[in-house]
Amino acid sequence: MVSTDRIESTLLEALEHASGNGCPPKLAEAMHYAVFPGGARVRPKLCLAVAMACAEDSPELVNAAAASIELLHCASLVHDDLPCFDDAEIRRGKPSVHRAFGEDLAVLTGDALIVQAFQVLGRAGRVAPRRLGELLCLIGDSVGGPTGIVAGQAWESEPKVTLVDYERSKTGSLFAAATAAGAIACGADPNAWGKVGDRIGEAYQVADDILDFAGDPEKIGKPVGQDAVHGRPSFAIEHGLKEAKRRLEHLVSSAIRAIPPCPGRAAMRQQVAMEARRFTPDEPLRAAEAAVA
Ligand code: IPE
Ligand code: IPE
Ligand code: MG
Ligand code: MG
Repeated sequence: MVSTDRIESTLLEALEHASGNGCPPKLAEAMHYAVFPGGARVRPKLCLAVAMACAEDSPELVNAAAASIELLHCASLVHDDLPCFDDAEIRRGKPSVHRAFGEDLAVLTGDALIVQAFQVLGRAGRVAPRRLGELLCLIGDSVGGPTGIVAGQAWESEPKVTLVDYERSKTGSLFAAATAAGAIACGADPNAWGKVGDRIGEAYQVADDILDFAGDPEKIGKPVGQDAVHGRPSFAIEHGLKEAKRRLEHLVSSAIRAIPPCPGRAAMRQQVAMEARRFTPDEPLRAAEAAVA
């Protein structure tokens, strides 16, 4: 079982570094606000689960990789909520960072979290420079261009985009990095694990599309109906809820099948199935079916 303490304490340590002595107080507060309390922490949990399945031998590096991924995710949410992107007022059940601290500090908070994500890795990776180099490249690719989160968000400024390119870049890339980083941090082969993360990430985005289409904003702690308002590609809008559910289930079973041979394979299969049950939006799907019937 993945210990969430490992994730929370590594994140806290990282923030102490980034917002310690001499940091402008509002920036320090905004960074903390953006990271705590967390959301699902699904990406760092996946990273740790892979490392445990591969019989991890370097827990500090694994913790750093998981924290780095979550810091990048939190930064992406701060920037995603800005008026120039989704203009969202609520995130994780409370005012988004720019609503609470202003747009200028929200931009800087995202920037500072991105920088800190790479510093966490740098500090923990000094003892394993080869793994560190691989982690930096992999995680950098997952957030930058041409197919990372930045690219995913940039597709929103193009006149034409395919659903797959959009969802893979904006969400799948960081999930694929989470599983592959878990493997690299303990000396295992990242390629097969990256495929597992890629499929879970796509499933997660389909679930998010369903929630945006049919979820309850009170329960999910963020606005709904945003994909339609902003004209964003959405699996639920393009194919309907029934097909979205089928796609989600297909992606999850294909992720489970893709788990490569490793010492903890059986436990990892169970963990992915459990996590997928947790993020599958059963309630909105049942409510939508009932409304049709
Ligand atoms: C939200 O991610 C953005 C997507 C890519 C779907 P999460 O649903 O993981 O957000 P938190 O971290 O739980 O708030
Ligand atoms: C967010 O995508 C993915 C990021 C790169 C931040 P969305 O805009 O669809 O996610 P939510 O619904 O605001 O969490
Ligand atoms: Mg967005
Ligand atoms: Mg958004």
